[in-house]
Amino acid sequence: MSPPTAAEPSPSPVVVVGAGLAGLATALHLARSVPVVVLAKRSLGEGATAWAQGGIVGVLGEDDSIASHVRDTQDAGAGIVDEHTARFIAEHSAEAVAWLVEAGVPFSPDPSGPLGLHLTREGGHAVRRIAHAADATGRAIHEALLARAREHPRITLRERWVAVDLLTSRHLRREESPRCYGVYALDMDRGHVQTLPASAVVLATGGAGKVYRYTTNPDTATGDGIAMAWRAGCRVANMEFIQFHPTCLYHPQERSFLITEALRGEGAWLTLPHTAADGGVGTRFMPAHDERGELAPRDIVARAIDFEMKKHGLDHVWLDARPIVEAKGEAFLKEHFPTIHARCLQLGIDIARAPIPVVPAAHYTCGGVVTDLDGRTDLPGLYAVGETSYTGLHGANRLASNSLLECVVIGRTCAQSILREGPVQREPLPPWDESQVEDADEQVVIAHNWDELRLLMWNYVGIVRTTRRLERALHRIKLLRDEIDEYYANFRVNRDLLELRNLVACAELIVRSALRRHESRGLHYSRDFPDPLPVSFPTVLTRLARSRRR
Ligand code: FAD
Ligand code: SIN
Repeated sequence: MSPPTAAEPSPSPVVVVGAGLAGLATALHLARSVPVVVLAKRSLGEGATAWAQGGIVGVLGEDDSIASHVRDTQDAGAGIVDEHTARFIAEHSAEAVAWLVEAGVPFSPDPSGPLGLHLTREGGHAVRRIAHAADATGRAIHEALLARAREHPRITLRERWVAVDLLTSRHLRREESPRCYGVYALDMDRGHVQTLPASAVVLATGGAGKVYRYTTNPDTATGDGIAMAWRAGCRVANMEFIQFHPTCLYHPQERSFLITEALRGEGAWLTLPHTAADGGVGTRFMPAHDERGELAPRDIVARAIDFEMKKHGLDHVWLDARPIVEAKGEAFLKEHFPTIHARCLQLGIDIARAPIPVVPAAHYTCGGVVTDLDGRTDLPGLYAVGETSYTGLHGANRLASNSLLECVVIGRTCAQSILREGPVQREPLPPWDESQVEDADEQVVIAHNWDELRLLMWNYVGIVRTTRRLERALHRIKLLRDEIDEYYANFRVNRDLLELRNLVACAELIVRSALRRHESRGLHYSRDFPDPLPVSFPTVLTRLARSRRR
C-alpha cells in the first residue's frame, strides 16, 4: 500500500474581470471544464453590453459574403484594419449568432430570413446583416447569458468587486519570468482589497468612454483593463481612435441615451433646424458630405454634424424618423424601435411625428490592449477580450455592430486557449499592502479632477484636433496624473479614486497616440495634418513595468 500523500492544493480558478458580453461569453466557454470567478465592479447588469441597441453582425444572408463584410470592415477602418483578424471574425459570425440563439437570445424573427431572423442594416454595411432584438439587442443578449452564468455550477459571480491591479511576477520578485498570477480586487461591501489567485486572468472590462464629458457609455466604462494591462507592461494600440457616435439624444433630462444607427439604416434623415423656406422639414445635410448620405460610416457622419453645428452655431441637429413612417408605416417604427419610441415619448417627443434632437458623443474605444486572436496579451497568463482589447479588427474606425461580434468570437477562442494551457498550481501570493495609507480626507479632490479631465478631453481631444490642443491636454493630464498618483499612494483606495486613476492613464494614452499620428485617418482628424499619409500603421505604445510600492 502506498503511503498517504498530502492533498495537492487545487488549481486556482480563472478570474474574468467583467460581466459584459466579452466576460460572460469567455466564462461560459471556460466553465465547461474549469471553475471561473467573474467580477463586476457595480451590479452585474451594468456595462455597455446591456445598452447595445442596433445589433450584432452575422454574415447570414444570401446576398452577403465573408468578402463583403471584410471589405466593409476595412473601408470603415480606413486602411489599417488587420485583414486576417477581420476575415477570422467574419468567418465565425454565423456560428456566433447561432450560439447566442442557442443560449436563448430572443432575436427579432423573420420566418423567411436566414436562421429565421430579421436582419437590419446600419451605416457602412453594404447589405442587411445585423441580427437584432428590436432596438434593445444588448439587453436581450446580456439577460440570456447572465441567466446561463447564474445557473452554472462552475461560475461564481461577484458584483461590487473592483479589480485594482494585476498581480504579476514583479510582486513575486521574479521579473526574469514574467507572468500574471492573479488580481487585487476591492470588495466594496467589506471595504477590503483581496488577493485573488488565478490560473489565468481575462480582462473584459469594456471601453473608456467616460474619459469624455459627453458619452453614450455607462459609468463602468473607465478603461480599467487597459490601464491595468498598461501598468503591467503590456502594449496598447490605436488609442487615438475614439469613436463618436453621431446620434446621442440631446435633452436636459437624459445624460447618455443613444439613438441607434439602425434608425438611419431604416431611412431616418439628419437635418438642420426647420425654416419657413424648407416647408418645416429641415434641410438634409449628409448628401453634401458623402454620397452614402446618412449611411456613411460614423466618423464621417459625426464630423459632418460637428461641422454643421459649428457652422450654424447649433446646440444639436435633428434626426427625423418621419421618412420611415412615410415609407413603412407607424406600426413598423414602433415595432422596430420600441425603446427609443417609449423613452422619447416620456420626454415629450413623439418620434413618429417630430424630429429628435441629437449630438455626437464618445461611444467606442477602438484601441486597447494588444492581443492575438486567442485574446493573449504580452504577459503570459493575462488575456483581454472585448472593447478592452485591440485585435486589429476596428482599425481607425469600428464598423457598426462589429463589437458584439468580436466579444463572442474572441471570447470562445480565448477560453479554448486557456483550457489548452492547463491549470497553474496555487502558490503563496503577497497580500495587498495598506500599511502606509490612511483614509482619504478630501473626496472633493477626486470629484474635481474627474470633472476637469473629462471636460479637458472633450474640448481638446474631441472630434477635430490640433497639435497645440493635444500638447496642452497632455501637459494638464500629466499634472493630474501626478496629483492622483500621490493621492493613491497615501490614501485607502475607493472606486472613484481607482476609476479616476485609470481614466487619467487612458487619457494620456489617447493623447500620446494622437500626437504620434501625423495625418488624418478614420476617427482621428487633425487640422494640422488634414490628409491621410499614403502608407499608415497602427499606433503601438510600449512601456516597461515599473516597480512600485503596491
Ligand atoms: P461591457 O459590456 O462594458 O462590460 C464591462 C464589464 O466590466 C462590466 O461588467 C463592468 O462592471 C466590468 N468592469 C469594468 N471595470 C472593472 C473593474 N475594475 N473590476 C471589475 N469589473 C470591472 N456594439 C455592437 O456591436 N452593436 C450595437 O448595437 C451596439 N450598441 C451600443 C449602444 C451603446 C449605448 C453603447 C454604449 C455601446 C454599443 N455598442 C454596440 C458597443 C458594445 O455594446 C460594447 O463594445 C460591448 O458591449 C462591450 O462589451 P464588453 O463585454 O467588452 O464590455
Ligand atoms: C447603434 O445601435 O447605433 C450602435 C451600434 C454599434 O455601436 O455598433
